[in-house]
Amino acid sequence: MIRFRPSVSLATSLIGILDIMIAFNDDVSTLSNDVSRSKRMLSAFAKTWPNRARVKKEELVPIFEENKEDFLEELLPFKDQARYLSASKEMKSKVLTCGWIMYNAKTVQIETEIVAPACSDITAGRLPGLDDPEAQLAASETMVDEAYHLHLVEEANRLTKRWRGMDTLHVPQFHLVGYMKQMQAQMEHAWQRQMIQFCTAVVSEIFISDYLHLLSENQEIQSFNRQTVEAHRHDEMSHSPLFRSFGKLYFYNLTEAQQAFCADILPRPVVWFADRELDVWLSLLQQINFPDAEAMIQECRDQHEVDLAALDYAGIVSLASEIGMLDTKVGRDSFAKQGLLG
Ligand SMILES: [Fe+2]
Ligand SMILES: [Fe+2]
Repeated sequence: MIRFRPSVSLATSLIGILDIMIAFNDDVSTLSNDVSRSKRMLSAFAKTWPNRARVKKEELVPIFEENKEDFLEELLPFKDQARYLSASKEMKSKVLTCGWIMYNAKTVQIETEIVAPACSDITAGRLPGLDDPEAQLAASETMVDEAYHLHLVEEANRLTKRWRGMDTLHVPQFHLVGYMKQMQAQMEHAWQRQMIQFCTAVVSEIFISDYLHLLSENQEIQSFNRQTVEAHRHDEMSHSPLFRSFGKLYFYNLTEAQQAFCADILPRPVVWFADRELDVWLSLLQQINFPDAEAMIQECRDQHEVDLAALDYAGIVSLASEIGMLDTKVGRDSFAKQGLLG
């Protein structure tokens, strides 16, 4: 029988966040109302952090269950392909462990390469509209949350690798991070590189709750894995509205030329996030000697490398709409070019 120490439930967390959101559910029809609402939300999120943050609660107790897999088959990009379906039970189990380790490694790269540097830019006062004490406090608390998530998922991967005898498994860099860095490298000015970092962080923080949702409630996978994801999602439920507020305050304080550049940038990380990361999958499958791994991944590539349909990006489109980005031609063209407008 598996027992975990009591933790604050997701429901409790949700009630606290909803309380804040309902309390500030007032008129956002004018720019000054929206700025004032976003600032008050930042302050409320910062003040409630000591009672809400998962890092302030007890650690999970790791236990391995013999009869449960690490990950969900439905999340594998090749789940319907003949080569996967005809693999042995042992090989399928190894593939699912790869899926879990990859899922955690992607989380680590999002936290360390995308979100933490954006938070550092806020605490250092480098981002317009976010250089006041309230925003800086909320950003520094978020950095603590993300550092805790790094510990949480690194620990989960260490234990899983040991339990499954897969200590040598190495996960390469994800396209999501690679594309962001490639675009930054092409930019002349620091503010452009910071904007790309910040927009990628906003998109990631709005998406990550959904990314975590499926595993956080699934009873079929290892209970420790589910609890790990649930603990992470507990914090991310508040990061999503927080980064929405960050995004608004930042955008409203940009010059017109910077706003046009931002409109060009914002939809891109959505597409990067929808990348199926087939190169990472190929590397992992080859490391576990999956038969004909290259041919199976090539079949996935022939279908599509990017799966926008698997993502609910309505939150990004509504953010762009609320800040007036979609009232401009450059904004509409940019979102349409990335396939985000119906
Ligand atoms: Fe996180
Ligand atoms: Fe986060």
